[in-house]
Amino acid sequence: MKKLRFIMGIETSCDDTGIAIYDALHQKVLSNTISSQYDIHPYGVQCELAARAHIENLLPVLTLSLKESLLEEKDIDAIAYTSSPGLVNSLITGACFAKALAYTLDIPSVSVHHIRAHILSAFIGETIPQEPFISVVLSGGHSHIYLVKHPEKYLLIGQTLDDAVGEILDKAAKIMGFLYPGGPKIEQLALKGKKGKFNLPIPMIRSKKDLNLSFSGIKSAFARAWESSDQTDQDMFDLSLDLQEKVIVFMMHKIKRALALYDVKLISFVGGVSRNLFFQSQLSQLAIECGVQMKLAKMDYCQDNGAMVAFTGYHQICNGFVDQDLTIKIMPRRDLF
Ligand code: KG4
Ligand code: ZN
Repeated sequence: MKKLRFIMGIETSCDDTGIAIYDALHQKVLSNTISSQYDIHPYGVQCELAARAHIENLLPVLTLSLKESLLEEKDIDAIAYTSSPGLVNSLITGACFAKALAYTLDIPSVSVHHIRAHILSAFIGETIPQEPFISVVLSGGHSHIYLVKHPEKYLLIGQTLDDAVGEILDKAAKIMGFLYPGGPKIEQLALKGKKGKFNLPIPMIRSKKDLNLSFSGIKSAFARAWESSDQTDQDMFDLSLDLQEKVIVFMMHKIKRALALYDVKLISFVGGVSRNLFFQSQLSQLAIECGVQMKLAKMDYCQDNGAMVAFTGYHQICNGFVDQDLTIKIMPRRDLF
């Protein structure tokens, strides 16, 4: 097979149309073009509208991505695309586009698991650690904790039993009258917040049984607290701060437990919510306390993007492993390593 150099990554699992080109020879992302659909989904992502927008956006995003990378279609050696999980219509749109393009160019295509791509997004352009590490994936659709031994084992050791973190931040912002996405808004509002007036419950704080997560309780408590408040600007700031803090305290509790259970030297934090600076600093402190290194994805690779798909697809082809479903089972502790 021809040596792989330029790998295109196509991401359409939700509302971002992302196309990137990764230069494997120089371990560098040449372009990472994203078209977001915030204006189409002001109150949350709608499945059918998202797929239709991908159909409109894919060709212009492709053109921009090639232009930025200073390459032409014929230079591309392989195409990686997100196959699951995500919105079915959106995934199919991207997969059909990727396969048709690969067929026309007579190059291979490879399907990539969206969460594997998020996990590897922390290492784009670098060497992926061979030692086991813990990866915390928090986004609008996913809240998972994985024990990873690349390339063979991606073990789900904890996951949300209901909503995802990004999802509840989006809903909380919506309750207060803000448009999607709510996560960055809550972070911004929380900066002006003061402690003391609100006291939302920390989810599952007494549960020592496992590493599972739950956010629906705090979401309901937030809605009740907002309803019964005076709904002033200061209430908005204070409640945003309390929500953000309680979610972070809860996540730190679970991550600390994961670090106690598994013998790892590295923890990574990825997905859209990992853009949150307060979250990052709390995790960084926890990592120091637990004597492990912390690795974040670069800001451009936190939200859904094609670069993480191209990078993952490249490593899949090189390591000869196939896409696997990373969300199917929770492994018992201390397994397999
Ligand atoms: O990874 P992503 O782009 O898409 C999914 O796979 O879901 O994540 C989007 C989520 C949204 O829920 C958004 O509100 C959240 O990431 N998010 C944030 C921040 N920026 C984006 N959450 C908290 N703080 C932020 N700064
Ligand atoms: Zn994602």
